[in-house]
Amino acid sequence: MKSYEHLYIDGQWVKPALGGTFPTLDPSNEAVLAQVAAGTAADIDLAVKAARKAFDEGPWPQTSGAQRAVVLRRIASGIRERLDTLATLEVHDNGKPFPEAQWDIGDTAGCFDFYAELAEQLDTRQEQNVQLADERFTCVTRKEPMGVAGAIIPWNFPMLMAAWKVAPALAAGCCMVLKPSELTPLTALELAHIAHEACLPAGVLNVVTGLGPDAGAPLSEHPGIDKLAFTGSVPTGAKIMQAAARDIKNISLELGGKSPFIIFDDSDLEAAVEWIMFGIFWNQGEVCSATSRVLVQRGLYEPLLKRLVEEAGKLSIGPGMQDGVLLGPLVNSTQYQKILQAVARGQEEGATLLYGGTRPLGCEAGYFLTPAIFADVPVDSWIWNEEIFGPVVCVRPFDDEAEALRSANDSRFGLAAAVMSRDLERAERVARRLRAGIVWVNCSQPTFTEAPWGGYKQSGIGRELGEWGLNNYLETKQITRYDSDQPWGWYIK
Ligand code: NAI
Ligand code: MG
Repeated sequence: MKSYEHLYIDGQWVKPALGGTFPTLDPSNEAVLAQVAAGTAADIDLAVKAARKAFDEGPWPQTSGAQRAVVLRRIASGIRERLDTLATLEVHDNGKPFPEAQWDIGDTAGCFDFYAELAEQLDTRQEQNVQLADERFTCVTRKEPMGVAGAIIPWNFPMLMAAWKVAPALAAGCCMVLKPSELTPLTALELAHIAHEACLPAGVLNVVTGLGPDAGAPLSEHPGIDKLAFTGSVPTGAKIMQAAARDIKNISLELGGKSPFIIFDDSDLEAAVEWIMFGIFWNQGEVCSATSRVLVQRGLYEPLLKRLVEEAGKLSIGPGMQDGVLLGPLVNSTQYQKILQAVARGQEEGATLLYGGTRPLGCEAGYFLTPAIFADVPVDSWIWNEEIFGPVVCVRPFDDEAEALRSANDSRFGLAAAVMSRDLERAERVARRLRAGIVWVNCSQPTFTEAPWGGYKQSGIGRELGEWGLNNYLETKQITRYDSDQPWGWYIK
């Protein structure tokens, strides 16, 4: 295993100021995978200053979008050339099955290519005329990079979550500091190597690994940051917002969810079962948009539960590198304990545990869990209302459309929602009434780089991906010119 004991600051690999390291584990066997540089406030300060200098002195923010696109495409190729190596690293650091890690890394490269194209388009779309009612003036708007961005990202899609922030920020002409999760820091450091090889100028991207309170907090508090982009839990999101309030940093937040999936009884049973299972069990259910609350119309309720239990029992559980595995281990002991507690709590609260929620036979080490299915989950229970962030699905019956909508929307979250019906008119009607930033019809989870991503209510602020993702890192300036040769007339009459 190569060394991950350096931080990437100002185009150089440097030891952290305090010289410390922390271990990252492989959750399939609980063994230490690597020792990683433990960045602290002093390293964050150096990284922010390097980004600030790169932004203020250039050349990155002043280069054309087309020139930035060249570097972004080189990064995309660098990722694609190492796709399987990076996917393997992600499997060991996070636990996810190898084919899913391959999707992630492929999407990561795709994200850099996508924002390369948007960077090119910025060259022609950067300026727009604004028609003013007062014809003595000419007004144009310009899109300009927001400045220095700080990105704090989670562990569930480590490299992809980095790309969702790094690619649009660089496309916009921003400079940045990236703080990956301490549970899965390795691919962010690999991204720094790839960006360096792609000749990204020094200081444009800095990567500081470290613990949340030691490195994340000083990044969110640093006065040299103009924009904070965060994905993770609601409590940490609230802390970031508070830190940002001190000097009015621009923020975008992508937080948790408890996303509903409404299944009408005219749905194809087998299709419903597969989308429900994918919607909550892919990536071990460690997915912000997981459809974890399933509402099934009465006529389909019993047959669907029966088929769900049958199919859940067939899902292969094991280390992510093992052939055919669909459920890897959960990311660490804390998450594992949290989910075991949620399963116990659900039973205490009167929900019926139809299947799973236990350590599978034959898996002595590692944070493995059988997929859990709860039926008849009370609406006021903790498991129905709170994000579990693991392979636990909560199912309830409903009678009519109005009841389903009421129940689906009765949540403090609003990241995603899904609806399934053969009656497309009904499905579309329901989709429009669901209070969520992402609504899937007759499917759950497919995610596209071109389309906006983000939540209503406590699921966050702002949108990532697509042109919305680029706008997160752009300011809009108006330039207004007085064209008249008449005096303004305040005192010159
Ligand atoms: P977290 O929100 O604490 O961690 C996310 C990132 O924030 C990490 O990089 C972490 O180092 C950083 N961080 C932690 N404390 C910080 C602070 N005070 N200031 C600045 N940065 C800080 O999430 P955690 O503890 O890993 O997972 C807890 C729960 O959060 C999960 O069970 C799940 O419910 C939710 N979660 C949601 C995610 C999503 O995609 N929406 C992703 C990961 C977790
Ligand atoms: Mg790890």
